[in-house]
Amino acid sequence: MLVTDQLVKTFGATRAVDGVSLEIPEGQMVGIIGRSGAGKSTLLRLINRLADPTSGSISVAGTEVTALKGKALHRWRSDCAMIFQQFNLVDRLDVITNVLVGRVNYQSTFRSMVKMYSADERAMAIRALDRLGMADTALQRAGTLSGGQQQRVAIARALVQQPNLILADEPVASLDPSNAQIVMDFLRQINKKDGLTVLCNLHHLGLAKDYCDRIIGMTDGKVCCDCTPAQLDVATIKAIYGSDAAAEHMDNDNMLKPNDLDQSTADENLPMSA
Ligand SMILES: Nc1ncnc2c1ncn2[C@@H]1O[C@H](COP(=O)(O)OP(=O)(O)OP(=O)(O)O)[C@@H](O)[C@H]1O
Ligand SMILES: [Mg+2]
Repeated sequence: MLVTDQLVKTFGATRAVDGVSLEIPEGQMVGIIGRSGAGKSTLLRLINRLADPTSGSISVAGTEVTALKGKALHRWRSDCAMIFQQFNLVDRLDVITNVLVGRVNYQSTFRSMVKMYSADERAMAIRALDRLGMADTALQRAGTLSGGQQQRVAIARALVQQPNLILADEPVASLDPSNAQIVMDFLRQINKKDGLTVLCNLHHLGLAKDYCDRIIGMTDGKVCCDCTPAQLDVATIKAIYGSDAAAEHMDNDNMLKPNDLDQSTADENLPMSA
């Protein structure tokens, strides 16, 4: 269980994350949604310890993550793999070398500097690429791949890290709908088959609804809703995106009907849970 307790991160006067308390059981696939600036990326960065909180705590299985230092902090960072919107591959390196970067925290500094990887690690990288349908590109320069292919390589890199948690920050925001679906299908497969917990910032509410077990909505650094996809209703969507933008997030099932947007739905009807 990953627990955040009253987590706060301020940048000057901005409260990017403002008192977030969550309990995430192992194996859950969680979609974090919200307007630009709501604090989604900052929350993931705090969990991964890419940023330190101003106050509050993060614990996993009872261990205080915010107190980790040195090797223990490296281990935690290996344990939670990040996937980014812009893939973060090294374009001029071949695909397999990019995947092997996921092994860096398992290596001595010297071995990682001279890019010495064991035959076992190379085999692991090829298996991960194969699983993502990318083994054929192992020797190709990463910069020559399409966006969807690059994100699949980035997922393979995350897998060889052998994490327990995947933190994906808008993993499909730069992809066309069909590649977005392919990438989300792989993330869900990893979640369901391997049992990895996945926390995924998503712009598209429809994707969060289709792929996630649980949806956390953020506004102004705070959690404004925490519910299942089935519990998402107009009032919730208005609370997350604001009345003006709620229409953009309508999908074509019956979750939202045009008239719903004209009603002044009472915000106290929001499904809230801790
Ligand atoms: N390093 C930083 N320095 C100053 N302000 C920051 C920093 N990182 C984030 N912020 C601010 O914190 C708030 C939350 O930003 P964050 O990037 O977490 O939002 P987000 O929900 O991920 O937005 P988006 O959907 O645009 O990615 C914003 O007001 C942002 O400007
Ligand atoms: Mg962001």
